[in-house]
Amino acid sequence: MKERTFAIIKPDAVRKNVVGEIIAAITQAGFTVLAMKMTRISRAQAAEFYAVHRGRGFFDELVDFMSSGAIVPIVLEKENAVADYRALIGTTDPAEAAEGTIRRMFASSKGENAVHGSDSVENGKNETAFFFAESEIAGNRA
Ligand code: CMP
Repeated sequence: MKERTFAIIKPDAVRKNVVGEIIAAITQAGFTVLAMKMTRISRAQAAEFYAVHRGRGFFDELVDFMSSGAIVPIVLEKENAVADYRALIGTTDPAEAAEGTIRRMFASSKGENAVHGSDSVENGKNETAFFFAESEIAGNRA
């Protein structure tokens, strides 16, 4: 069964000008892009998006970083999309990420790690709704 997941190309990757390479790696791995935009979020919006991490030592750094520049939120579809996308991007820390993963290729550090990926279908739905109206997602219209 086709599954959806939600991704973000983060400000570090946008600044490095590797948005195209990252999208190519994602589509070459068999994912279909259902929605995508370049946008920017405020500190308050970043804090809301990452509310689950509030209280963690890296929270302020994370909020500052995610609101520091343009980002590219993306809705993806594929069989087994959540697990396959997380395998494609690699571990949070790029130093530990497997060869060929997006974070190994493009991330700078544990904080500035190039991409986000939802950890479940349910969280993916909520994260998608944070950035996209239903009508902006290809395939959602009759
Ligand atoms: P992501 O998995 O997209 O969502 C949570 C983010 O928190 C994670 O990516 C990292 O960018 C960030 N993060 C996790 N651990 C640390 C850390 N130790 N220091 C800084 N940022 C972190």
